[in-house]
Amino acid sequence: MTRRKGIVLAGGSGSRLHPLTLATSKQVMPVYDKPMVFYPISVLMLAGIRELLVISTPEDLPNFRRLLGNGSQFGVEFSYAEQPRPEGLAQAFIIGAEFLRGSPAALVLGDNLFYGHDLTDTLAAANADTDNASIFGYEVADPEAYGVVEFDAEGRAISLEEKPANPKSHFAIPGLYFYPGDVCERAAVLKPSPRGELEITDLNRTYLDSANLRVQKLGRGTAWLDTGTHDSLLEAAEFVRTIQHRQGLRIACLEEIGLEMGFLSEEQFAKSAERLGKSTYGAYLRSVLERRQREKSSK
Ligand code: TTP
Repeated sequence: MTRRKGIVLAGGSGSRLHPLTLATSKQVMPVYDKPMVFYPISVLMLAGIRELLVISTPEDLPNFRRLLGNGSQFGVEFSYAEQPRPEGLAQAFIIGAEFLRGSPAALVLGDNLFYGHDLTDTLAAANADTDNASIFGYEVADPEAYGVVEFDAEGRAISLEEKPANPKSHFAIPGLYFYPGDVCERAAVLKPSPRGELEITDLNRTYLDSANLRVQKLGRGTAWLDTGTHDSLLEAAEFVRTIQHRQGLRIACLEEIGLEMGFLSEEQFAKSAERLGKSTYGAYLRSVLERRQREKSSK
């Protein structure tokens, strides 16, 4: 089986966050103690994906390279590609075709944050199915701002609509999508929508039409936050801070995930921790290693 590869789409104009985003991209901005893009990357890593392509604008891509490097500090491998203009989410599969070379893919949006019970199992199940596309449905108060999925009485997806004025359900489709190896071929024949974008909803509809689309509901025990407005950015930071303070555990700590997933050895992890110096983040990494070594020696 070909290994699934991941794409993090982190371009766009970020116009709703102006003036914050006039000089830098929103996906490198902090969500509490780490850059926003760490959160979606953590999702792909938890799904078991180690080869990742980061797509951003020509202006912002150098920042991502500086921030993420080659990925060895997390036990993954980053490649980079430019999206000159924000011409739609499905364009990721035109830009990423050479990177994917026919392997199954997962796409995550650079400003989406997921957290919750059973998420790792859900991700592993989506990753394991390489014959079908897997997307998710999440109940929101304002479905008209998103792609919307309608279910029949048996819970099967029957329609997909992009930002409908009159949504047929309250289930929005979060920015996390798993596709089989034919995704680039399907993306290549999409036509731009009236707003001039290659729509991910049109791509997903091809899988619905060929009966290859799985839509799994993410329950209310899962948090899906997007961080594209001033309020949602602050709310996401407050959410992360609250949970982290309560548990003493960090959300989307990529070095820790690398260690847990077996992508990093303890020696490599210790080096990554050293790099982060005196920050509380670095101190947390050192405590993770100490706890792990204590637990091992008490067994
Ligand atoms: P949006 O939130 O739709 O757009 P945006 O980030 O440009 O923000 P705004 O609406 O404030 O102008 O995009 C969702 C995510 O997808 C975000 O992380 C940016 C990214 N994106 C791209 O990288 N390329 C694209 O062509 C589009 C449409 C979005």
